Amino acid sequence: MMAAQLNTENKRVHSASGDELVSRKPVLLMRYRGFTRCNHWLTALCMFALLLSGFAFFHPSLFWLTNLFGGGQLTRWIHPWIGVVLVISFLGMFLQMWRLNLLRREDIEWGKKIGDVIQGKEGNLPEVGKYNIGQKLVFWAMSLLILLLVITGIMIWEEHFSGLVSIPVQRIAVVAHALAALGCFFVVLAHVYAAIWTRGTIRAMTRGTVTGGWAFRHHRKWLRELARRDVGREPGGK
Ligand code: HEM
Repeated sequence: MMAAQLNTENKRVHSASGDELVSRKPVLLMRYRGFTRCNHWLTALCMFALLLSGFAFFHPSLFWLTNLFGGGQLTRWIHPWIGVVLVISFLGMFLQMWRLNLLRREDIEWGKKIGDVIQGKEGNLPEVGKYNIGQKLVFWAMSLLILLLVITGIMIWEEHFSGLVSIPVQRIAVVAHALAALGCFFVVLAHVYAAIWTRGTIRAMTRGTVTGGWAFRHHRKWLRELARRDVGREPGGK
């Protein structure tokens, strides 16, 4: 019975005699090296700590969040310093990534077909490079909001810049700071949702690599460029 089953499975119906599996190893592509991944996770850690400590000052009902940072006084002291680390860390990411996040013609075409993206009809979309328009908009929104947070944050950092601007200007800065933080919250939410929703993406920031299939589906121009660069190289070689 078993032998008969194996026999039918071995019969060629859909393939030619020379067709065979050559390699069982999937094609893997390096998307983020260790330095960039550390840079990303430090930025993410700072952003979460800032949102949590910032929300603690947002409304009295959220003041309990200060317990995470050792109490009210300590939270107030540490919040701007975490901001300083975030700015330096994000600047590191910005310098590595801004060029590849510039908008290109195909991004607009891709954006117009957002319905196909949601329905998973990738075949209808134009090929894009390392980032699609959604990722690019997130990148620029984060950059602008973080810039706004730093500028307004310095204006209201009483401990070191108390006389920098007048009290009425400080009041406006406080509101702008809170609105920018709220904006950041929603942009980060969208970013994390997209990273989870697009299967196979998270590993880009954990292991650093993505599969060839993922790249073919989502970032074909990027894949083609890497493949062209790879011609004549030994796998994994320099
Ligand atoms: C739990 C939180 C987070 C997760 C799971 C996450 C996950 C990821 C993943 C998987 C990628 C790679 C996407 C790709 O290359 O296609 C990525 C890229 C990136 N992430 Fe995050 N991230 C998080 C938080 C943050 C935060 C808080 C920030 C900034 C404040 C941030 C900024 C970025 C940037 C700038 C990129 C590069 C993509 C681009 O330039 O558009 N991430 N993230």
